[in-house]
Amino acid sequence: MPKPHEPVHVGVISREQPFFTRFETFSGASEREGGILCRIHRLDFPEKSAEQAADVVVIDLDSMGDDFLKHLPGIRQQNARSWITVTYQHPSPERLLKSVRAGANDYLPYPPTMGEFHEMLLRARDLTGGNGVRPRGHLISIFGNTGGVGTTTLAIQVAASLRSKLGPSSQVVLVDLVLQRGDLSAFLDVPTTYSLVNLVTELDRVDPSYLHSVLPKHPSGIYVLPAPYAPDEADLVTSVQIGRMLHILHSVFDGVVVDAGHEFSEVVLSALEASDRVLLLTLPLLPSIRNTRRTLDLFDRLSYDPAKLILVLNRGDASGRVDLSTIEETLGRPMQWSIPNDYETTVKAINQATTVQAIKPLGKLADNIEQMVAKHILGQTSSTPFSPRPSKNGNLMKTLLNIIGRPLHGPP
Ligand SMILES: Nc1ncnc2c1ncn2[C@@H]1O[C@H](COP(=O)(O)OP(=O)(O)O)[C@@H](O)[C@H]1O
Ligand SMILES: [Mg+2]
Repeated sequence: MPKPHEPVHVGVISREQPFFTRFETFSGASEREGGILCRIHRLDFPEKSAEQAADVVVIDLDSMGDDFLKHLPGIRQQNARSWITVTYQHPSPERLLKSVRAGANDYLPYPPTMGEFHEMLLRARDLTGGNGVRPRGHLISIFGNTGGVGTTTLAIQVAASLRSKLGPSSQVVLVDLVLQRGDLSAFLDVPTTYSLVNLVTELDRVDPSYLHSVLPKHPSGIYVLPAPYAPDEADLVTSVQIGRMLHILHSVFDGVVVDAGHEFSEVVLSALEASDRVLLLTLPLLPSIRNTRRTLDLFDRLSYDPAKLILVLNRGDASGRVDLSTIEETLGRPMQWSIPNDYETTVKAINQATTVQAIKPLGKLADNIEQMVAKHILGQTSSTPFSPRPSKNGNLMKTLLNIIGRPLHGPP
């Protein structure tokens, strides 16, 4: 992508003149309204494409036909660094997947609106490094199936362990995505003066030093992005904003750990989609196990990459628990990690607004979580309570969902 003050060259491939004209109108409006400067060209592929370099290529698949997807490798060869966007009227997971497999980076609803076109240009700029934004660290979400399963407790400990594994100069941020009633700020006693709602409204101006100055820092060295204090402020946040926000945090911090709570909102789905790893927590209790089963079924339906999902049993050795073989039978897959029950330590940590790593004497919990982070997040080998099942290949879904920044199901 060009520098911010230079125009973005958008190559449009379509048989429909009105489609092309629409983009010219967008370009004019964007320039008048101080948006991203762009120049629209008609791209004739494969005839004259060699002379026509483009930063962004938009393909109208409805007029060109799905068969045109076979040309994408050729387009990619000639425009190696371009952002390839497909557009059509009836998106389905299958069609999107086919496009991504052919080499597309993005999808636009048909016909796109000015706002959707502008969002696409921002994604292209962010994700191709046009403003220096590139993912570099680890992005991990902790998701539970019911309240009280331990997502907040675990998110804090995972962030602390990640930071201790990556070294004292590493920068790790905890994000509270329980937007209506998140309690990360209460657990760590940090202010909510600058919350996630503030950040999503100024994504265009943030840079690393700004983020480091506005985000509260816990004495353990972890940065915190709290949920807003007033629950109704959360209504303003969209899943597209969360996708962009996480992408930016991912490029600035060595580790981003998201407390994703227990609800399948669009915002949470967009975080799960963007994550490298999703720790799915279960308690050894029947209702919790049944809800985990439902969650796994949903992940299957959404074609989630199974390799990024880590099934974790919290308080696995609590008394009166359902035994492991029954849990695994009900879930149809093995548990990959078990976290011991240590209520005293977790409660001490909450009451002292600190991490379990800071509670002396250091209990089994801190050590266990450190091992889990080493094995399942950093990919180091260690002695583990459970071994993971072999994973199928696939970063494809992650890529797809990252780039479309919207849920897969249904029309846009
Ligand atoms: N491994 C554990 N052992 C004992 N108690 C735990 C453990 N993990 C969490 N807890 C306790 O469970 C309660 C709920 O945890 P919390 O993190 O608030 O859950 P959630 O965020 O899923 O609602 C807290 O009182 C916490 O101390
Ligand atoms: Mg919580």
